[in-house]
Amino acid sequence: MKRSFPIKYEWDIVTIRKEVRKLANEHGFSELNQARIVQSVSELASNVVHHAEEGRVQVELIEEENRSGINIIVRDFGPGIDDLDQILRLSESPASVEGYGLKQVRELMDEFSIRAVEGKGTYVSVSKWKDESDDVFSE
Ligand SMILES: Nc1ncnc2c1ncn2[C@@H]1O[C@H](COP(=O)(O)OP(=O)(O)O)[C@@H](O)[C@H]1O
Ligand SMILES: [Mg+2]
Repeated sequence: MKRSFPIKYEWDIVTIRKEVRKLANEHGFSELNQARIVQSVSELASNVVHHAEEGRVQVELIEEENRSGINIIVRDFGPGIDDLDQILRLSESPASVEGYGLKQVRELMDEFSIRAVEGKGTYVSVSKWKDESDDVFSE
């Protein structure tokens, strides 16, 4: 199961949030994990709107032998990020909420990888695996 949505305008984020929550819910994620996933995709999509003009988000339900989860890829063809290492350095605690988005996404999800090529764009892939808190309220 794979779905993809365009990101260009602020209101695209509204659709993306709604659709991703629905998928995560149907897949059996707990409310708390749904919130983490939605917050993450929302932050990544908002980075595209604010820092890169336009892009796409691809959402996929993933299955492995003994676990299942959700993978979200957000990509754009914007300017890339030249000081990425500095932005992601965890030792610096956030002075404000601003500039904390990517680090927060890394904290919220189980897997996080980012590639940014100057002048070419940014590619972020994040995944969340279901854990014992999930599937409690669904059969
Ligand atoms: N998709 C993107 N394209 C270009 N630059 C980006 C992108 N995402 C993030 N950035 C750069 O990385 C910085 C940190 O991003 P983030 O942690 O989300 O903080 P914020 O968006 O609040 O500035 C941004 O200020 C921006 O310079
Ligand atoms: Mg941001």
